[in-house]
Amino acid sequence: MFGNNDIKVMLTEEQVQEGIKKLGAELNKVYENEELYMVCVLKGAVMFATDLAKNLTMPLKMEFIRLSSYGSGTVSSGKVNAVDISLPDLNDKNVLIVEDIIDTGHTAKFLIDFMNHNFHPKSLKFCSLLDKKIKREVDIDADYYCFEVDDKFLVGFGLDYDGQYRNLPYIGYI
Ligand code: IMP
Ligand code: MG
Repeated sequence: MFGNNDIKVMLTEEQVQEGIKKLGAELNKVYENEELYMVCVLKGAVMFATDLAKNLTMPLKMEFIRLSSYGSGTVSSGKVNAVDISLPDLNDKNVLIVEDIIDTGHTAKFLIDFMNHNFHPKSLKFCSLLDKKIKREVDIDADYYCFEVDDKFLVGFGLDYDGQYRNLPYIGYI
């Protein structure tokens, strides 16, 4: 167990909020006057999705699904567990999947395949707060992301280590 004082800051609270604001402004142009269904991937994306939502001005509906891929520790298993994936009818809707981080890309691929298999959305886009491009195992890219990050195990702002640190207002590493 590490205390919060052992965390080194990678992105400050101000930097994170600035990045989210910029993305919000971009999305407001993309979806101007269009209804948007945001699908937040719990638990990691909770902070990002709620702060992003506060910066959005189009008619917005917020949905939440729960996945898990990391059992424990810091190495991606590549396996995705759908813990709770109940969603409304998303046929002919603009859907934006909101994730905390893309690492290997398995989770993103699972989600995109799931949406396309179960619905015919009007549009389907993927956005992530963080993108660890260097770790990619699957050929997949975010349509929108705020920050590209190095290959470090990150915590804070929704990201956890063994369930802890999600509440930190910044992104750090141990
Ligand atoms: P992927 O399937 O390997 O792309 O992993 C995506 C998921 O792994 C994310 O939604 C996170 O929940 C988790 N994850 C990946 N990298 C980190 C990290 O550095 N810290 C905490 N969780 C991470
Ligand atoms: Mg996640």
